[in-house]
Amino acid sequence: MCGIVGYVGSKEAAPILLEGLRRLEYRGYDSAGLAIVGKNGEMHSVRRPGKLDQLEEAVAAHHPEGVCGIGHTRWATHGPPTLENAHPHKSNDGSIALVHNGIIENAGTLRTKLEAEGVVFQSDTDTEVVVHLIDRLWTPDGTLEQAVSAALEQVIGAYGIAVVSTRDPGKIVVARQGSPLLLGVGKNGEVLVGSDAAAVIARTRNVVYLDDGDYAVLTADGYRTYHLRQGPVQRKVHEVTWDLEAIEKGGFDHFMKKEIFEQPRTLEDVTRGRLLEEEGSARLGGVTISDKELLEIDRIIITACGTSWHSALIGEYLLEELARIPTKVEYASEFRYKNPVVDSRTLVICVSQSGETADTLAALREAKQRGAVVMGIVNVVGSTIARETDFGIYLHAGPEIGVASTKAFTSQVAALALFTLYLARRRNLSILEGRRLVKALQQLPAQVAEILQQDAEIEKLARRYINAPNFLYLGRGFQFPVALEGALKLKEVSYIHAEGYPAAEMKHGPIALIDEKMPVVFLAPKDPVYHKVLSNIEEVKARSGHVIAVVNDGVEELQGKVDHFLRVPETHPALLPILTVIPLQLLAYHVAVLRGCDVDQPRNLAKSVTVE
Ligand code: AGP
Repeated sequence: MCGIVGYVGSKEAAPILLEGLRRLEYRGYDSAGLAIVGKNGEMHSVRRPGKLDQLEEAVAAHHPEGVCGIGHTRWATHGPPTLENAHPHKSNDGSIALVHNGIIENAGTLRTKLEAEGVVFQSDTDTEVVVHLIDRLWTPDGTLEQAVSAALEQVIGAYGIAVVSTRDPGKIVVARQGSPLLLGVGKNGEVLVGSDAAAVIARTRNVVYLDDGDYAVLTADGYRTYHLRQGPVQRKVHEVTWDLEAIEKGGFDHFMKKEIFEQPRTLEDVTRGRLLEEEGSARLGGVTISDKELLEIDRIIITACGTSWHSALIGEYLLEELARIPTKVEYASEFRYKNPVVDSRTLVICVSQSGETADTLAALREAKQRGAVVMGIVNVVGSTIARETDFGIYLHAGPEIGVASTKAFTSQVAALALFTLYLARRRNLSILEGRRLVKALQQLPAQVAEILQQDAEIEKLARRYINAPNFLYLGRGFQFPVALEGALKLKEVSYIHAEGYPAAEMKHGPIALIDEKMPVVFLAPKDPVYHKVLSNIEEVKARSGHVIAVVNDGVEELQGKVDHFLRVPETHPALLPILTVIPLQLLAYHVAVLRGCDVDQPRNLAKSVTVE
């Protein structure tokens, strides 16, 4: 997933573009570049492979002047992260520069056609075909926006683009299809463009989210929005509520640590105004489906990717146990290509922190195509998934910058619990059971704060395992998805191989892995399957495995069988995952830091995977 910025106004563009790229660096960081149309109509373009620091140094040396420009930070999809493949890409005469986020699916065909017409390609990217198309389709008395819209008629795929040209100076043309793009409406006519609000928030809180098929013309006097087929369109101006320090580290060494420690607050935020103590239910303003329609739903599919898929698994246990409705979790990448049995009585829930994950968005569209009712559980307001679902629940967790998802995971589980409560109390859950869940949800923020006090102890524990070649995470029932999530956290930030497994499954194979070098993390809180997990712990100890156990207090029977205890308070079994995951987030974080890994920008990863 790449980051796009653009600025046109009365100020020098270079520093504003770099500031915007810095805010988007978490989206991708293989290379970066910018292009500025100078006051005398000349094109200044500076690009560098590697992190943004390299570009900043080059810009300081070249000092590109001008008040209209675009910038880009790249996460490679086509072509390695080299200088040649860095954006912006330019037309052969250098008069047009373009940045792009997404994938051009018919790039091969277009490239062959353009090369046959004599176009010389400089890169291996799919993006470059678009700038050459614009060049070829620009009529002598045409405008930049006319050339761009003509070119996009031939493009198939996902794009968010921004284009500038010396042939039509003082103008940025932007367009979106499948990749997020928004305008920042600044003071005195200045306008910005960004992949998300982080890119523009330093200068304005007023943003306009573009829809698929939209394009816009930005000048120092303002902007105009169009749709490729409908012509001029009006798009609402939204006010961004969170502020700049929300995307700063807040005194922590890393965004991941900050976001782990934000969880007491984010759990308050996701439940704020949504808990009905008296009725033992939930109030969900974004769930606009009528009770009648909701009660006609006879099955639920939850679809997501990665960590969101893990929270979806907990949602499955929640909905089946408490709302007594058949629920199935599907990897979005699988759902979209199988022939799913979906109809108007199926509710498909799409869980996504970014709201832009390509596979989840495609699964959403496939479900809608088949007549399902589609709901979103999303963090980023105004994101594509949020806007394309029929209704949904926002996490209100604030921007999650660290690539490894932490606060979004616990907020997703809380949101799924809220929806379960909302539905179950309209079906068969008793008011007493409902009140029990409400009370447990209210206690979570303080309980998470209590667990976070073990941070130093967990860092000490991490020191013992930084050279472990592998880890095994085991849990049962509601704790099985936590085992998966704990393993994913560790491997994606520390690069240690880790596997999550249902604890009972271990004896069907993985137990062969157990020896004195294998750390095994057990999720063993006091839930209905606690005593079953005890036997699994015994099995590991009998084979000299190292056991780290996440437990509640009062586990005397485990003395001598567990090498290290990580304690969490007791709560409703269905909410225990929100507590038991916290020590695992901290363990993964500290192991990664002690191994010298780039915790916030792990190798090969990006924050939101907007490619398939
Ligand atoms: C989780 O730590 C990873 N960064 C990744 O698995 C992520 O959860 C996945 O890509 C889904 O992203 P989304 O929630 O934004 O859709």
